[in-house]
Amino acid sequence: MQGYVLTRYRRPMQLREVPEPTPGDGEVLIRVRAAGLNPVDYKTRDGAVRLIWRYDLPVVAGNELSGVVEAVGNGVTRFAVGDRVFARVDHHKMGAFATYAAVDEALVGKMPDSLDFAEAAGLPLAGLTALQGLRDELAVTAGDRVFISGGAGGVGTLAIQLAVWLGATVATTASPRGEKLVRSLGAETVIDYQKQKFKDVLRDYDSAFDLVGGQDLKDSFDILKRGAKAVTIAGVPEPTTARVDLGLGPLLTAAVWAISSQIRHQARRSGVGYRYLIMHPSGTDLDLLARLVDGGQLKPVTDRAFPFQQIADAFAFIEQGHAKGKVIVQL
Ligand SMILES: NC(=O)c1ccc[n+]([C@@H]2O[C@H](COP(=O)([O-])OP(=O)(O)OC[C@H]3O[C@@H](n4cnc5c(N)ncnc54)[C@H](OP(=O)(O)O)[C@@H]3O)[C@@H](O)[C@H]2O)c1
Repeated sequence: MQGYVLTRYRRPMQLREVPEPTPGDGEVLIRVRAAGLNPVDYKTRDGAVRLIWRYDLPVVAGNELSGVVEAVGNGVTRFAVGDRVFARVDHHKMGAFATYAAVDEALVGKMPDSLDFAEAAGLPLAGLTALQGLRDELAVTAGDRVFISGGAGGVGTLAIQLAVWLGATVATTASPRGEKLVRSLGAETVIDYQKQKFKDVLRDYDSAFDLVGGQDLKDSFDILKRGAKAVTIAGVPEPTTARVDLGLGPLLTAAVWAISSQIRHQARRSGVGYRYLIMHPSGTDLDLLARLVDGGQLKPVTDRAFPFQQIADAFAFIEQGHAKGKVIVQL
């Protein structure tokens, strides 16, 4: 079969012939019909996440997919051959950029009936991130005012809709290229980040979900009520990230404690909580996202779909950092 393979860090990946995986106990073999691209794909290629996820190279890359169950391993109970499914695959394994992928059934969901494979492939990673950030970490409830930075990207387009589904009103940042889109998804207040600092406009928010990092993350502390919380997916990892999300031991957790001490101090000074979230794959959460899509409460946004043979072009596009919604490759 064909796979897009990472052979060495900081080198272009290569489309190659690779062995077909066989499903192990509890795994389903999925014939991949489409795969979503995410910033983590080029960060992995560049070795930027090497300390967290170590791969035995060469490895087939790719972190999310949609497709059809082709075979099931021993003990699989939730899926049968022919099911249309989608998944954020195991961080430690990857393998979505290939003709077939073997995935633990606990990480797989039944695809929403109302989506085609290309639309569904872009939902798992960004959708789970948005859901777990807003529902689990920020505990957003009806009436909350939520700030989401970077609303026009893969995570942002889903986060806006999920915050609205949770009953919140949403303020976000976008360039003029993304303004119409984020308003159509339910953002009430849109700040053009190229012209204005959001911290000069927003006050007393209940939650901040930071998708941009850097100065945006620090500024988000200033717009929150005292006692509120900022959750980032693009800032500096902190001890809970190390312990809970990554399961690191005391030594590495202490290192993460040290590198995050300045940002945690800034959050404390502003009287707000701080958390860096790393999403976790979950078939159960995917089932919820599928129900929301089929119920009309969540709509994936796809910027562009490329043929699998042109995956290098898809990477070049997403790396420019201007995608509106998701970038997909179709097999
Ligand atoms: N920790 C985790 O588990 C996790 C999970 C998923 C993603 N992430 C991280 O979260 C970040 C966002 O991911 P993504 O998939 O949403 O990225 P993305 O789709 O590549 O984001 C691109 C979008 O961001 C907008 N943008 C760029 N700079 C901006 C700024 N300063 N302010 C507001 N908007 C800005 C761009 O709009 P314009 O072109 O119009 O400017 C574009 O629409 C990435 O760093 C990714 O690695 C982390």
